Amino acid sequence: MRTLMMKPLTDLIRPDILRSSAYHVANVPQNCVKLDAMESPYDFPPDMQSKLGNRLMNAPIRLYPNIAADDFIPKLKAAFHIPDTASVAVGNGSDELIQFITLLLAKPNAKVLAIEPTFVMYRRNAELFGMQYVSVACNDDLTLDLQRVLDAISEHQPDLIFIAYPNNPTGTRYPRDAVQQIIQAACGIVVIDEAYGAFSSDSFLSKAGEIDNLLVLRTFSKIGFAGLRIGYVSGSLKIINELNKILPPYNMNQLGLTAAKFALENLDWINHNINILKMEREIAFAKLEDIKGIKVYPSEANFLTICTPNAQECFNLLLQNGFLIKNLSAAHPLLKNCVRITIGKPEDNAKWLSVLQKAYG
Ligand SMILES: Cc1ncc(COP(=O)(O)O)c(C=O)c1O
Repeated sequence: MRTLMMKPLTDLIRPDILRSSAYHVANVPQNCVKLDAMESPYDFPPDMQSKLGNRLMNAPIRLYPNIAADDFIPKLKAAFHIPDTASVAVGNGSDELIQFITLLLAKPNAKVLAIEPTFVMYRRNAELFGMQYVSVACNDDLTLDLQRVLDAISEHQPDLIFIAYPNNPTGTRYPRDAVQQIIQAACGIVVIDEAYGAFSSDSFLSKAGEIDNLLVLRTFSKIGFAGLRIGYVSGSLKIINELNKILPPYNMNQLGLTAAKFALENLDWINHNINILKMEREIAFAKLEDIKGIKVYPSEANFLTICTPNAQECFNLLLQNGFLIKNLSAAHPLLKNCVRITIGKPEDNAKWLSVLQKAYG
């Protein structure tokens, strides 16, 4: 029998968490094409689905996964040409890795710096672990203000810097030499988050393991497998060893690992889809540039960010036409009236483009 009354949750839970709200995941109306979260529009074709089904049937789900003994990381390194000198840790989505990399450096008074607007989880995790978040605004046209970043680095000496390369939610890929200067200027760890690296013309992956303070983060999510929840981070053995001390021992699961290994055996199919999406992005970009009433930003990711006369109206219009997109208006002052549209299948892109052409052309 409990003799004491449980304290009210408001006395037990951290006040900052009580005040915060959960990450918003949109409800998808029926028959709506989902273009809000940069998922791939492509499912495995039926023959590959049944091959995968057989693999999953035989996956050792009775057993905990042992990532150190598994052949997943060697296969991953071979498939994506991760340098031999780099060590790799895997996470339940790169979200989990962002969380644990942040926790790794969360000493009292530690600082995290990021260039805003950017992926919201950098700030969320910094705040969750009681770190000071230094937000450096990009230019009004969503390009990088290198000097502002270098000045902020010398003023704040951040322990951790996140650079989404290309950036979400803008699609901008900052110039490589500028990012290199940031890595050189940093006294802490720099995470180059290449969640959209597959769609980009440049990558830092080949430098992982070579530059002491560099971690390169990638994910399976944007190349066809958001549901598997698999992310990986490459960097020096010293940092990855420390990270592995705090990652939950069984953070991956046998079904996800089995499916991811199957995916790695089908890189041609993955790359074919990536190429289609990159071509579609260029077609959509050119068409959007011709629409007088809106402004489209250059993107090296699998989405386009556009500035409209009224983001909520644009969101509603596309929703009425069967497309769920993301309204970015509230995300950052530089994104006022902006929306983000994931590149989908060619036939769907043609449809939403024609809706926008009619409304704003
Ligand atoms: C820049 C960036 N990093 C990381 C993630 C997280 O990806 P995941 O946890 O699915 O690997 C996202 C998701 O949208 C992202 O945009």
